[in-house]
Amino acid sequence: MEQAPGGFDVTRPNVARMYDYYLGGKNHFPADRAAAERIIELSKGHVREAVRENRAFLGRAVRFLASECGVRRFLDLGAGLPTQGNVHEIALREAPDCLVTYVDNDAVVAAHARALLEGDPRVRFLEGDLRKPAEIVSAASASGFPLDGPVGLLLVACLHFVPDEEDPEGILAAYRDLLPSGSYIVISHACSDPVPDAMAAAGGVYGNANAPFEARPAARITGFFDGFELVEPGVVPLNEWRPEPDALPLRSDVLPVLGGVARRP
Ligand SMILES: C[S@@+](CC[C@H](N)C(=O)[O-])C[C@H]1O[C@@H](n2cnc3c(N)ncnc32)[C@H](O)[C@@H]1O
Repeated sequence: MEQAPGGFDVTRPNVARMYDYYLGGKNHFPADRAAAERIIELSKGHVREAVRENRAFLGRAVRFLASECGVRRFLDLGAGLPTQGNVHEIALREAPDCLVTYVDNDAVVAAHARALLEGDPRVRFLEGDLRKPAEIVSAASASGFPLDGPVGLLLVACLHFVPDEEDPEGILAAYRDLLPSGSYIVISHACSDPVPDAMAAAGGVYGNANAPFEARPAARITGFFDGFELVEPGVVPLNEWRPEPDALPLRSDVLPVLGGVARRP
């Protein structure tokens, strides 16, 4: 993808396209690749394993919610570019009566998602900003995503693009209050504790991108679940969250991305 479709800024690294590059996708431009290569170097290559583990965690969490918790509504915030194992594919395989609404604030994501999703009334895409919970929830319900049962709210690898001054805890509290009782949140988030210097350096690289990146200590990430009841095993490195029996061991010594799933009482 070298030609810019009209209206997209391809000169500035873009967090959705950098993530697509780590995953081996095709939707990125030279500025995205250069910034992503710098992150790969800073992480000694481990970012690629981390993003694969992130997608695997997302898949396991969606399967768990659909098959074991009766969730039939999925609201996927910061959904990213379509890739393998998309949320609607996993959820609909478990339960064909699921409704899935994807949300992202990126124009490139919007174009690809709309093209992919056209035709299935159970799956929608909304262009919107996850930092505005009331707007997102009301746009979703107005577009045919009724809040008449538990919702699986996915915030996977996107809260580390919401800086402290935007009050991520306040954003989560607002979603908690807007969702029906029995809903679940799924969060994954880069953790600064095991590799503080590399994460700070990564923040510097993303400083030139369309959204800032801020890894956080484990205690802050756990605090995002306040007011929810964490399901076992709690907030853990992604590969330790209900792994498949045949999961391969990590290649890296450490996976500095934590995740968890929790229920709104
Ligand atoms: C690293 S990708 C994660 C994609 C997917 N959730 C996953 O884990 O595979 C982060 C996504 O969050 C989106 N994003 C960042 N800030 C956002 C915001 N304020 N509102 C909506 N989407 C946002 C980006 O455009 C990007 O697509």
